[in-house]
Amino acid sequence: MPESCAGAEIHYLNSANLNTSLMYKGIAGAARRPRNTSRLIASVYRSSTRLFLHPLLCDLVALGLIATSLLAQSSTDTRTVPFENGKEIFEYSCVTCHGPAGKGTPETAVGFQKPATFPDFTDCGGTTPELNVDWKATITQGGHGRGFSPIMPSFTDALTPEQIDKVVVYLRSLCTDKSWPRGELNLPRPLVTEKAFPEDEYVISSALNAKGAPGIENNIIYEQRFGARNQVELDVPVGAMRTGPGSWFGGLGDISLGVKRVLSTNLSKGYILSAFGGIVLPTGNKSRGLGSGVTTFEAFLAYAQLLPANSFVQFQGGTDQPTHTDDVPRSAFWRTAVGKSFRLENGLGRMWTPMMEFIADRDFATGARTNWDVMPQFQVTLSRRQHVRANLGVRIPVTNTADRPIQVVFYMLWDWFDGALTEGWR
Ligand code: HEC
Repeated sequence: MPESCAGAEIHYLNSANLNTSLMYKGIAGAARRPRNTSRLIASVYRSSTRLFLHPLLCDLVALGLIATSLLAQSSTDTRTVPFENGKEIFEYSCVTCHGPAGKGTPETAVGFQKPATFPDFTDCGGTTPELNVDWKATITQGGHGRGFSPIMPSFTDALTPEQIDKVVVYLRSLCTDKSWPRGELNLPRPLVTEKAFPEDEYVISSALNAKGAPGIENNIIYEQRFGARNQVELDVPVGAMRTGPGSWFGGLGDISLGVKRVLSTNLSKGYILSAFGGIVLPTGNKSRGLGSGVTTFEAFLAYAQLLPANSFVQFQGGTDQPTHTDDVPRSAFWRTAVGKSFRLENGLGRMWTPMMEFIADRDFATGARTNWDVMPQFQVTLSRRQHVRANLGVRIPVTNTADRPIQVVFYMLWDWFDGALTEGWR
């Protein structure tokens, strides 16, 4: 040891830095986080601050290290991180990669190529959509467990669940702008009821007549957030229906464009309230039943409330105001979705969310009756990262059933903020 010590690089002789540098080396290819002293010292000899030492001094340093590390280990019984304060845990275990301020260590210093999803914990736009439960899963199981980069190590041996909770609280404190709504309020998307949470998402949905005249309507929906609380939305419907035996007619429906804004949100009270304003353009062929033929303004409020045990209720109520009411009357709609999510494998497996929607609309016309539908459905996450999901349900008219068919409705969504469509599957 002494002969290789002269000119060796010795890290600060405090166990905090030791531990992080070791942990990093573990991931970079060598063994996992070393627990025994000899490997500890071997790593110290390869660490980063250059000190040129006399061989004798080297022995002393090595002995000192053995003693401190033994002391450190005996004083921390089963776990290895001897801190209870979130900031200290972060500084001890995470700064090597995530940087002292949580912005991330520069790529030149960190020694690996950062994935596009590498977090800057001070960037509220990047961190607030993520759920605490997902962060805990990532810290416990490592990035790989959730379909992220395996460079993010597992801390299941190094940190107790309580320590992980504390470091997550600390990470949350690094985003100081509280106007961003928290991802916990981003509930699974029902088939009809619109969400209050602003999203970065593509959705392709299809509604297929299961009874009555054969027909299908597809919607291609694009949503993009801007600023802390806003989102734009574009909905392009494409429909097809049978016009006679063996003949179908298909084409574009009425394209709509709108803006949603979060009005009020509070994580501890578990709610989010948003308002939406939009315009529906008469781009569809009215005579073929693919459009209304008039420009319509649409406005609604959307509200979501978290309930105990991963259950929730989502509500949407609004109105359609056509610019000409000769053919198309003004109308109002209200929709409610109740559901509960089940996360398998402690949040690492699929998430299943059975939901029930109650959908109503009514024309502002004398004698008009309210259309009521119920819609049992379930959403499931497809990718391990949970950014690709599908939902399948049946829309069953309860009132005015004569001219309203039962429909099978399906969507697939891709939350593109969480990575490319092909990423995060294993
Ligand atoms: C060896 C380097 C390294 C260390 C040490 C490290 N991380 Fe990470 N961490 C990463 C990388 C790389 C990612 C990005 C993974 C991705 O996006 O694919 C990441 C991502 C994360 C994420 C974001 C997950 C998400 O859903 O966006 C959290 C939270 C996190 N780390 C917490 C921690 C905490 C807490 C510690 C210390 C206890 C820590 N990390 C230590 C490399 C590291």
